[in-house]
Amino acid sequence: MSTPTVKLNDGSEIPAIAFGTGTALFGKDCTDAIRLAINSGFTHLDGAQAYNNEAFLGDGIKAAGKPRSELYLVTKLKPGLKAADVKTSLVDSLQKLGVDFVDLFLIHAPPRGPVKPEDGTIQDLWHAMEAVHTEGLAKSIGVSNFTVEDLKAIAGSKIPPAVNQIELHPFAVPGPFYDMAEMLYRYIWKAAEPIVKYGRENGGTVPASYGGLSPLVRAAGGPVDEVLPPIAERLGKALGKPVTPAQVLSKWVSHKGAIVVTTSSKEARIKEYLETSQVPDLTAEEIQAIDDAGATQHKRFFMKQYFE
Ligand SMILES: NC(=O)c1ccc[n+]([C@@H]2O[C@H](COP(=O)([O-])OP(=O)(O)OC[C@H]3O[C@@H](n4cnc5c(N)ncnc54)[C@H](OP(=O)(O)O)[C@@H]3O)[C@@H](O)[C@H]2O)c1
Repeated sequence: MSTPTVKLNDGSEIPAIAFGTGTALFGKDCTDAIRLAINSGFTHLDGAQAYNNEAFLGDGIKAAGKPRSELYLVTKLKPGLKAADVKTSLVDSLQKLGVDFVDLFLIHAPPRGPVKPEDGTIQDLWHAMEAVHTEGLAKSIGVSNFTVEDLKAIAGSKIPPAVNQIELHPFAVPGPFYDMAEMLYRYIWKAAEPIVKYGRENGGTVPASYGGLSPLVRAAGGPVDEVLPPIAERLGKALGKPVTPAQVLSKWVSHKGAIVVTTSSKEARIKEYLETSQVPDLTAEEIQAIDDAGATQHKRFFMKQYFE
């Protein structure tokens, strides 16, 4: 079973689902998890310098024995690093990963807080990313946790970001910089939608979603849970085999146009994630029902310092 791909603005193809080495695997030996993911059919592997396990990710790749050309490897610039650190940190990552290039290199998070003049601007940081792309150390370059304002700050650069990896699920999100009326009903999709739209319309940046299973795994018993089983049942009948609520949520993320970045320690679930590409499409009414259910609660689980 081959993974569907999505075309990026630089012409390359990115597999539509990724196996991540953050969250549950953060700072851990992920060798066995990566070997299992690759041997089960994952080709897109999402790492990061900040996860402090790139060498184990490299070990897992070696242990799986799949040719480099069949893998899509991502890492991310550690938050807080500056333009002058971009190339040296990427070269260090390549060494740990045991490869000559990554398929995608992301700025993990936009610079925040007071910036000393010698630290450079967000534009300087992006220009350093463009330079490692030109050198061939990263086939594609992109960002993560960028708001519309962050994307605007680097708009008009020679290379637009290929990807913006952000938290994306149906739940609502409060934010002190939003007004109270909006805050009560502002859910992640509504908060993310302008970011997705701006990126798409300004350089064709593709969104990637992390935390997509949050309604099920981080806040079980919430309003979205009730909407998923009947949709799963309809899709299961159409497919001819059971469809799980997690697969419905992943389909919802895909319908929002995003790459799915997920993870699991369990072989059965890894298989389930990969089989989601066979699940039939949700109807517009089903997508709306999930949107509406999510809108009744506000929850953000990651990177609150950047968005709230
Ligand atoms: N760019 C960023 O700032 C950022 C931030 C966060 C994450 N990420 C990336 O995104 C990747 C995935 O992140 P995520 O953990 O948020 O993904 P997720 O898809 O929301 O959740 C995956 C987790 O859900 C559990 N799970 C799946 N189905 C379940 C079910 N039916 N019942 C109970 N638990 C279930 C899995 O545990 P089991 O092991 O039990 O299957 C796994 O640990 C990370 O590894 C990282 O690479 C990036």
